[in-house]
Amino acid sequence: MKLAAFVSLWALFSLTLQAAPRDKCTCELNLPEKAFPHGKLQTVEGNATDCNIHVTPQKALELESLLLGLEKRLTQLHSDVSILEEENDGELYGVLSLFIIENEMVEIRQLMEKLNSTTVEHQVLTADTVQQLEDLKIKMIELEKFDTMEVVKGRKVNKRLKSALETCRGGVNANVAPTPPPYGTCQRGPLRNVTGPGVNTQGEFSGNYAYGAWGRDPKPEARKESWYWVVPLTSSQFANYVRFYSSLSALIIGVSNPGNIQIASSNPTTNTIQGPNNVLYGGALYYNCYNQDAVCRFNLTTKSVTSLQLPKGTRYNSKGNFCHLEDCYVYTDLDLATDESGVWVVYTTTQALGNLVLSKVEETEPPKLGKTWHTSVYKRSVTNTFMACGILYATRYIDANVDEVFYSLDTMTGMENFKVGIIINKVSSNIFSLNYSPVDQMLYAFCDAKMVSYKALFG
Ligand SMILES: *[C@@H]1O[C@H](CO)[C@@H](O)[C@H](O)[C@H]1NC(C)=O
Ligand SMILES: *[C@@H]1O[C@H](CO)[C@@H](O)[C@H](O)[C@H]1NC(C)=O
Ligand SMILES: *[C@@H]1O[C@H](CO)[C@@H](O)[C@H](O)[C@H]1NC(C)=O
Ligand SMILES: *[C@@H]1O[C@H](CO)[C@@H](O)[C@H](O)[C@H]1NC(C)=O
Repeated sequence: MKLAAFVSLWALFSLTLQAAPRDKCTCELNLPEKAFPHGKLQTVEGNATDCNIHVTPQKALELESLLLGLEKRLTQLHSDVSILEEENDGELYGVLSLFIIENEMVEIRQLMEKLNSTTVEHQVLTADTVQQLEDLKIKMIELEKFDTMEVVKGRKVNKRLKSALETCRGGVNANVAPTPPPYGTCQRGPLRNVTGPGVNTQGEFSGNYAYGAWGRDPKPEARKESWYWVVPLTSSQFANYVRFYSSLSALIIGVSNPGNIQIASSNPTTNTIQGPNNVLYGGALYYNCYNQDAVCRFNLTTKSVTSLQLPKGTRYNSKGNFCHLEDCYVYTDLDLATDESGVWVVYTTTQALGNLVLSKVEETEPPKLGKTWHTSVYKRSVTNTFMACGILYATRYIDANVDEVFYSLDTMTGMENFKVGIIINKVSSNIFSLNYSPVDQMLYAFCDAKMVSYKALFG
């Protein structure tokens, strides 16, 4: 059965190769309302020539939802196999895995076939789909390796059982293996690597906004699951709206629907967004309120703002920024973050002597300050932070090409680690905002007018 799964995965892999004739294909995308910006496509797609079939926006959407579906199934397969791995012992393992994995494989195959016919029929792929197919190809290879290892693991378990049996015969109890210490709140272990960049686009802004933030809502409202948001700052400090796109490719080609949702009528007023490190969570934007040591929450449904006052002594108005040796990043006093457990805020206070302070933001009405952690890392030595699985990670500037995730704090154990040593390859010198999305385990960065994403790998 292992062999069967292996073979099917390989077949799927070849199919993705077929479906992405990357070297020999250009795309002419006909959008009735707006000419397709070929320049932008090139930055995402690299080099493409000679393919003159037309695709409607509906077709692009169809492809995209197919890919989204496929991605979901693959993730499901991954997690099913992981669960099996944890629960596994004895013969039941083989039977169950056959059943579950085969079910998943059937669905994945159906999706791939649909995708195959769609792409073959139209011989055309949007820039984003090519990227996604590439990503999927990598996933296929990973899955394959995973499966091979499962076989190996299965054999190991058998061996262990055998030797335990033998030990029993000898009248001695088998040893119970010690369980490894947990990392944060997730089962998948600590952050292991950050790969990419994946997406690297200026969207529709053509370099006009150097500062900002973008990403996906980790707890989206119904029918907004594939939406992306952007907050472009004017004059390195303010913004008064959130801009939305119905999908990643819409963001890349710069077709915004439903457009801007306005928070304040002008810049700057009471509820203006100050600074770049904002996040969207559960249909609300969390940000540093203009001229206040407080977190504001803008409810996208009611269009109303409620706020959370931070402790006395909190540094604000560009007095507690992220920095490196050459420079500080203005108005980065408050860094909002999301992870599997919700919303967090990273800041510093006078009494903490400029070290990073982390607090949970409770999603009550109005939002409340939850538990707080004090760290021993100086905020001015840090360029940005993000949360993943209840663990705070901090980055520092190495050179124009590289930032390093150098520090972590596990909120479950209180343990600090200054030797994380994970490299982030930058597309440009400055990362003004950086946030982790638990829905796709991606890091979203806004990097000198570019919207850039990275894959976070764990375990
Ligand atoms: C694009 O393709 C042409 C010919 O197919 C090749 O000469 C050129 O090096 C390619 N450019 C890149 C960036 O791969
Ligand atoms: C993909 O579609 C082509 C053309 O319809 C077909 O010949 C091929 O067998 C399909 N591949 C898979 C794996 O379904
Ligand atoms: C992290 O990923 C990069 C490629 O993206 C690879 O070169 C590097 O070896 C990886 N590091 C670890 C520790 O796995
Ligand atoms: C936004 O307001 C609506 C209506 O009061 C409420 O149901 C919803 O929970 C609010 N959302 C957030 C994130 O506070």
